[in-house]
Amino acid sequence: MHTDEPAAPAPRRDRRDRTLRSDLRAMLPDLAIALLVTASVYGILHWRIDNGTSDTALVMPFMADAAANWPYWLSQAFGWSALLWSWVTVLFGLLVGGSRPAWIRLRPATIERLHRTTSLTVIALIFAHALVLSWDSGNDLLGAFVPGLYSHAPGRFAVAIGVIAFWLALPMGLTYYVRNRMGPRLWRMTHRFIIVVYVLGIWHTFLWGTNVWFTGGLRTVLWVMQIPVALLFLWRLLYPARRGERVPWRPSEWSAGLSARDVGSLVLRLGAAAVVVALLVVIATGNTGGADREDYPKTSTSDGGGHDHHGDHEGHDHSGHGH
Ligand code: HEM
Repeated sequence: MHTDEPAAPAPRRDRRDRTLRSDLRAMLPDLAIALLVTASVYGILHWRIDNGTSDTALVMPFMADAAANWPYWLSQAFGWSALLWSWVTVLFGLLVGGSRPAWIRLRPATIERLHRTTSLTVIALIFAHALVLSWDSGNDLLGAFVPGLYSHAPGRFAVAIGVIAFWLALPMGLTYYVRNRMGPRLWRMTHRFIIVVYVLGIWHTFLWGTNVWFTGGLRTVLWVMQIPVALLFLWRLLYPARRGERVPWRPSEWSAGLSARDVGSLVLRLGAAAVVVALLVVIATGNTGGADREDYPKTSTSDGGGHDHHGDHEGHDHSGHGH
């Protein structure tokens, strides 16, 4: 093609590829894998209850009947696949916004497509996580979808941030399909804040996930999983894909002076670097905010008011666990 020819309009197929309907179709294989993962997690949770190694049953002994409480275990399983998929989609998203590190071989268009399909899968998985939970609490849809209505203190806040994450994910993600109507710049600006959804999901899990209740094990793994996210976030800020987003972060570039925007962006980059350091400190010191397993059975009471999942059970007293 001659370089002086006017830019050809995007091929029709390309434009079609970006509608909600075609992305919903494209997400089906991804969703199928996510459902398989959910089923496997459900199997593991069930097996752990049956062989007496379930941390959830330790925190909430009244839940130890795996068959009777199956919606709760299924909801937990959807929670884990939602978390895993949101981890993956955030990594893809950061690779879309930043220049690709040389060792990543995937084409930008492939990364973007994977980001779109995995994001849609995340929304479906969070929805399933909450919907199945509502079956467990006597079809309490309001409890599962209105922040602050599920459970009692101290669980109310922990669950509410998960619910808020869900409601934020919808407009911040799905407005992609009307971005031309709302203005691509505005869309890009608002979509950037979707990282908040991920942080809320992780925070919610650390606060209320009974399989990551105790120090060590899966709780540490969850902390470690945040390192690539934080590193890629920092990388995306330092090396954005769009030249316009580039800020002079090397001191050698500062001789021409810095605008207020540059200073703000530098502070953001410093903050991101501080997050990486903080994560490393948390992991190195083992100070992950979990409960102490050794203490737990000793503090067990039947009138504790602890992790009561829908208010009609007496909770496990977990005061002093550090959550
Ligand atoms: C409408 C939104 C949400 C509701 C009502 C909700 C509710 C809950 C509840 C009650 C638990 C406690 C289960 C337990 O005993 O461990 C929980 C755990 C969990 N949630 Fe959510 N959540 C929501 C959103 C989210 C989001 C956005 C994510 C992440 C993307 C997430 C991931 C998880 C995970 C991984 C667990 C841990 C399960 C376990 O300990 O095995 N949830 N959620």
